[in-house]
Amino acid sequence: MTEHIKIVEVGPRDGLQNEKQFVDTAIKAELITRLAAAGFANVEAVSFVSPKWVPQMADGADVMAAVQRKPGTLYSALVPNMRGLEGALAAHMDEVVIFGAASEAFSQRNINCSIAESIARFEPVAQEAKRAGLRLRGSISCALGCPYQGETPISAVVDVAQRFLALGCDEIDVADTIGVGTAAQVQRVMQAVGQVADLGTQVSGHFHDTYGQALANILAALECGVRIFHSSVAGLGGCPYAKGATGNVASEDVLYLLHGQGLHTGVDLDAVVDIGSWISEKIGRTTASRAGRALALKKP
Ligand code: HMG
Ligand code: MG
Repeated sequence: MTEHIKIVEVGPRDGLQNEKQFVDTAIKAELITRLAAAGFANVEAVSFVSPKWVPQMADGADVMAAVQRKPGTLYSALVPNMRGLEGALAAHMDEVVIFGAASEAFSQRNINCSIAESIARFEPVAQEAKRAGLRLRGSISCALGCPYQGETPISAVVDVAQRFLALGCDEIDVADTIGVGTAAQVQRVMQAVGQVADLGTQVSGHFHDTYGQALANILAALECGVRIFHSSVAGLGGCPYAKGATGNVASEDVLYLLHGQGLHTGVDLDAVVDIGSWISEKIGRTTASRAGRALALKKP
């Protein structure tokens, strides 16, 4: 039987959050609707964070109200605190994502508190999310390096992973926020996280492609047994609190790789290529996806 890989499409959230020009609510909603229709079973759609910190995500409630939801698809939202959780519950999200970091400096810059303070803040969020029957994911930023602190000790990643598991997280993202990690390093980190979590079902690889290492890092993580990866259509994005970080690895490139490996994703690459061309045009960018560009050129 062909092995299944779960791809979480994060373009609408991680991708668009970095756009300086406000993207219309209707375009955001159409993007999410089309990505789910293309077969992504999990779309990271919006975040309920302070609009002062990330203005682009201020319309999360309106975006979700306009999405044509596909039954069975999980729609996720980032929430930094109880206020964010209330927004996620009101918007009928399926999953909430608490987001911490393995680096103190990044934690301060991204959510204005220490790692320990963030975990304490997430505790009631996690409890309430679980009580409401939502899925809970925990994202560990700067797991492979930090723009402010440099190297991230593996022990710091494992420590946050353990804390997230203790909070009841169903899934944990090992996130290379600034895309500096290399394959051997990814394997060391994943193997260490594998000591406290099940790599096949509980851990995802969230790679940004700043240094062009993301596909190699995905293969390295696959070898370790990781079966969940994040990607963004057209390689949209970056992080507003990580200068110079490019977008997530492009969904089109990841799908091309995984399908070539004989793995099953349930996602229609051809449809994703069209979505990538469409959203790139809407926001006035050229696609960052190599496979997306090549496949679009072959179309009549
Ligand atoms: P703060 O300034 O310390 O907290 O921000 P505050 O409680 O003083 O709130 C400031 C203002 O925001 C207040 O408004 C609050 O009411 C409001 P004011 O009284 O000044 O008018 N506020 C909110 N509004 C709407 N929704 C909320 C909310 N909370 C407070 N939930 C805070 C602390 C955590 C709120 C802030 O730092 C924040 O929102 N940070 C979010 C930053 C962010 O979204 N970063 C990008 C996502 S992380 C990422 O992309 C990495 C990832 O992809 C993985 C990877 O690649 O590493 C996940
Ligand atoms: Mg990210």
